[in-house]
Amino acid sequence: MQDNLKIPAHVAIIMDGNGRWAKAQGKPRTFGHTEGAKRVADVTRAAGELGIKYVTLYAFSTENWSRSAEEVGALMKLFRGYLKTCIKDADENNMRIRVIGDKTALDPDIRESIAYVEEHSAKYDGVTLTLAINYGGRDELTRAVRKIAESVEKGKLTASEITADTISASLDAPDIPDPDLMIRTCGEERISNFLLWELAYSELYFTDVAWPDFGPEELKKAVEAYTRRDRRFGGADE
Ligand code: FPP
Repeated sequence: MQDNLKIPAHVAIIMDGNGRWAKAQGKPRTFGHTEGAKRVADVTRAAGELGIKYVTLYAFSTENWSRSAEEVGALMKLFRGYLKTCIKDADENNMRIRVIGDKTALDPDIRESIAYVEEHSAKYDGVTLTLAINYGGRDELTRAVRKIAESVEKGKLTASEITADTISASLDAPDIPDPDLMIRTCGEERISNFLLWELAYSELYFTDVAWPDFGPEELKKAVEAYTRRDRRFGGADE
């Protein structure tokens, strides 16, 4: 815990700007992703030191398949690499790792690595790092609606019994509280299909700093800005 800071329990981050960061240096976009991947461990560790319990990172969206085969391949290679090295990080930092998104479209070896990492780190109760891979908010909600419809078809649930809680419980990580703070790097001020349901009451923080330059100091700045916010949840005093 830090002096006078209000610590969000859950911080979600759109890691944007890898490509622009690389281009500004005359390097290929994939170089930006490689540097960006290095920030994942730094920022997660810093989050743990601040007392943040959950970090969710938007690593690959359902829309990202439309990028060049080279770029998609480079990102998948980075995920493969990260899923190998994160075990050590998890062991040393009491870190639980999870993945949300539609895993069925991922290569079998990546799915196996995810299953192994999730199972191996399930015992840890420090920071929970959730990677959103092949994730889209609309896709997550569509899959949730399908699950609920199946329950209705099987007679386990009636339409009138469906509440917001039913929907929350059908999402990819129903046990993780909604984000308190959502950060997007590199200037754009959009949600871009990230955690559409879960971000309903989150504070939003946008910074011009590109993801490869986003380190522990930048995270602290975001938490300082969050500390100054007066959070409202739609009550009468809003
Ligand atoms: C957006 O930046 C970033 C992505 C689409 C990929 C995020 C992936 C990483 C940070 C690396 C791998 C992550 C892990 C978990 C190992 P962009 O390249 O679209 O930025 P641009 O808008 O400047 O083009």
